[in-house]
Amino acid sequence: MRRRVSSGAAPVNQGGAMTRKLELHVNGRVHTVEAEPDSMLLYALRDNLGLHGPKFGCGLSECGACTVILNGNAVHSCVTPLQAAVGQKITTLEGLSSDGKPNKLQQAFIDEQAAQCGYCINGMIMTAQALIDRKPHATRDEIKTALEGNLCRCGTHMRILRAVERVTTGHAAQGGTP
Ligand code: FES
Ligand code: FES
Repeated sequence: MRRRVSSGAAPVNQGGAMTRKLELHVNGRVHTVEAEPDSMLLYALRDNLGLHGPKFGCGLSECGACTVILNGNAVHSCVTPLQAAVGQKITTLEGLSSDGKPNKLQQAFIDEQAAQCGYCINGMIMTAQALIDRKPHATRDEIKTALEGNLCRCGTHMRILRAVERVTTGHAAQGGTP
């Protein structure tokens, strides 16, 4: 399930920068970043930590390109205030692989050649991973529902669906319609 995270925070400071040192738990490591607490998690991940798996697409919680997993839920990091993520468990695309090797789901995306331009793929994988973590044998309908908020302008939806099903069913699909 995709969730926006609300912090109940004051509006973003429009004047001089009011940064603070904030502790982020990302991909099993603790990082201290200096940033404005009301700024969005996506920017800290990309600009402070150099994690470029999450992409900036719309910045409006419309496309899913920026998706990360926060405490087990797929969230849009472009609208997640940094202070709402402090001390929480954050996983980015980079955190799925180990020893430089893709995990099962990443490998399935490679095997299905699911990426065309690739811009949406971070969000597709992170959203699907959160679903699989929760429901390892999710049905096709459940996968489609989970991915509803992730847009792919290249139209590779069938290959993306087949990639996720490689993991949920344990074998490669023989084709079929979405
Ligand atoms: S960039 Fe976050 S949803 Fe589009
Ligand atoms: S592969 Fe290009 S937007 Fe999905």
